[in-house]
Amino acid sequence: MHINVAILGSGGHAKVVIDALLAANQQARISVYDDNPCRVGESLLQKFIVSCTPTDTFTEQYYHIAVGHNKTRASLAGRYAGRDKLFMSIIHPDASVSSFAVLADGVLVAANAVIAAESNVAQGTIINHGAVVDHECEIGEFSHVAPNVTLGGGVVIGARSIVGAGAVVLPGIKLGCDVTVGAGAVVTRDINDGQVVKGIPARCFQ
Ligand SMILES: CC(C)(COP(=O)(O)OP(=O)(O)OC[C@H]1O[C@@H](n2cnc3c(N)ncnc32)[C@H](O)[C@@H]1OP(=O)(O)O)[C@@H](O)C(=O)NCCC(=O)NCCS
Repeated sequence: MHINVAILGSGGHAKVVIDALLAANQQARISVYDDNPCRVGESLLQKFIVSCTPTDTFTEQYYHIAVGHNKTRASLAGRYAGRDKLFMSIIHPDASVSSFAVLADGVLVAANAVIAAESNVAQGTIINHGAVVDHECEIGEFSHVAPNVTLGGGVVIGARSIVGAGAVVLPGIKLGCDVTVGAGAVVTRDINDGQVVKGIPARCFQ
């Protein structure tokens, strides 16, 4: 199906997003936008980067915010909320998403990720390459489950949190909002809002 999609952001994460979108729909017509004047006129995966500001915006009906930084992604979503546009989710065809899972708008599910039954993924979240979100997890909005993370069943993650690459969160553990879990950590206890943890078992270090 021919659809016109605005990709907002032109960094490394945008490359992952465009790749997944084209794998899911080869006929998608993609335009790449950035509000950083230094990026405008450069190219990303053979597409010219176009300027996009709060007042001079895109015309496509569909858009996806392809910015890896969680707070920036959330802030951009606020800019476009309520406009007559669709904040589309993109699911790579090599991902496995249960028909009993619920995904909100603006989610990216990258190749080889798994989202199991009765998990809920809130808007603007990234479930990155090879991440496993087991059954009945709750993933807060604008959070990021990085490549090869494993979330056990019933894990709860608050808004704007990042679980770093390859980390493991044991079943039933709750992470607050704005939490950072270091790459390779094993989280064995609940983590409060705003904490940064790393290691095995994961301990607070900031
Ligand atoms: C844990 C983390 C948040 C720390 O970042 P930071 O605050 O910038 O910390 P620094 O890089 O200054 O490192 C501080 C110390 O922690 C160590 N450290 C850093 N990351 C670590 C990790 N994941 N596990 C164990 N130790 C780590 C460093 O070696 C350093 O140790 P030292 O003081 O003995 O030299 C970060 O390293 C990390 O793992 N982020 C996740 C990144 C990721 O997976 N992103 C997904 C991309 S798709």
